[in-house]
Amino acid sequence: MTSQRYQISARRHAIRAPMTTLVTTNRVGGHVDETVTLQGWLYNKRSSGKLHFLEVRDGFGVVQCVMSKKDVGEEVFQQAAELTQESSLAVTGRVTAHPKRSGVYELQAESFALIALTDGPYPISPKSHGTEFLMDHRHLWLRSKRQHAALRVRHTIVRAIRDYFDQRDFTLVDAPVFTPSACEGTSTLFMTDYHGVPAYLTQSGQLYMEAGAAALGKVYCFGPTFRAEKSKTRRHLAEFWMVEPEVAFLELDGVMDLAEDFLCAVVERVLEDRRPELETLERDQAKLEAVRKPFVRMTYTEAVGAIQAARASADDSSCPGDGALRWGDDFGADDETVLSVQHDRPVMVHRYPAAVKAFYMKRDPADERLALGVDVLAPEGYGEIIGGGQREDDLAVLDRAIAEHGLPQKDFEWYRDLRRYGTFPHGGFGLGLERMVAWICGLSHLRETIPFPRMLNRLGP
Ligand code: 4AD
Ligand code: MG
Repeated sequence: MTSQRYQISARRHAIRAPMTTLVTTNRVGGHVDETVTLQGWLYNKRSSGKLHFLEVRDGFGVVQCVMSKKDVGEEVFQQAAELTQESSLAVTGRVTAHPKRSGVYELQAESFALIALTDGPYPISPKSHGTEFLMDHRHLWLRSKRQHAALRVRHTIVRAIRDYFDQRDFTLVDAPVFTPSACEGTSTLFMTDYHGVPAYLTQSGQLYMEAGAAALGKVYCFGPTFRAEKSKTRRHLAEFWMVEPEVAFLELDGVMDLAEDFLCAVVERVLEDRRPELETLERDQAKLEAVRKPFVRMTYTEAVGAIQAARASADDSSCPGDGALRWGDDFGADDETVLSVQHDRPVMVHRYPAAVKAFYMKRDPADERLALGVDVLAPEGYGEIIGGGQREDDLAVLDRAIAEHGLPQKDFEWYRDLRRYGTFPHGGFGLGLERMVAWICGLSHLRETIPFPRMLNRLGP
């Protein structure tokens, strides 16, 4: 089938390609001494008189194809000389093992079929480009090695997340994207026109997962979520993916146990499956190997003390932030960094002041000022990757919180039903996928953790 296709394309371009096995670059090692065809794009080309070294990439890897004038003849050799970076082509030749580097294979080219030359020079050359230029050309930038590595790690993280919950009796319950009300506060809602009535793009599927937990016991959703945050930081996207498990009869300590076990499992899976990609990204893998149970757990009040003490004893350069953190303030990115760099594994901060947290958090029976919530801060200053906790299950207390947050009670009638009909202790969390990818890959900005990022000032490509 495929060989036939090659005959057609070869005829069109007047280059004779023999019928051979079609392989991808990651599989050539299984075909040493056989003649095969690779199809892909020209990644790089060097020439020295009578030899061309054509590096062909196909999305699975890069293989160097050595073409000698003696083997292919003057005409084909000249045609190859005219190939531009990212021209699409098929190269046929014999697979050889690299004489010095084990696990590396080459193709001794016998012929090639041009599929298409580029229209002029490819915009992304090996010289370095500015970030804005690369972001404007994100659709092409994805063809580079570092981007492949980050996207493959992302893929593995997604797989690991799904496997984790699927293997533990969780049921996937997809949450809606159009919602009638806010989950995480009204300030970050994207409004849309839903057949003449306002609707919001979801900030979180959590409220729906609470209904799911009452129905199915253990549930999770995993999908895109939206925040109209006006902040232009390296940690905020307008559209990001979140996985949100929710479990019936799970209280705050259980939520922390679950988050800890889950993060360890995902990190372990990436270390099993994606070492080469982490190497491409120059990630210090020892830092990831250190991610083991138990994580540090501290209350918000203890965390405030630790941050203040670190600032008081450090010189300005080693401790970011202005040092003005007071009890009752929410943590800023600098505060989280000061705390997380003190430990080699994630830090779980629990029992924040209820006033800085969402309406649905359960009040701490031991201290009404506090909410039974937890944030998990990634090591090395990658910030909050998980937010979650136990949910308010007392209808009267919930109603007070809805009022205090200025939310319209009528929008939450269905949610209040969950407290009317068999209320139950329950909890869960949300992990931001892109923050997880940034941490695992060691990327300082979220923009490279998602194929096509949506940010305050970017809606394209
Ligand atoms: O802490 P958040 O706002 O928690 C919730 O949405 C809860 N309803 C989740 C739950 O309990 N089911 O968001 C959870 C996580 C954060 O810890 C962070 O990793 C990520 O979502 N996140 C963002 N990621 C990228 N860009 C943004 N603007 C983000 N906002 C939150
Ligand atoms: Mg949060």
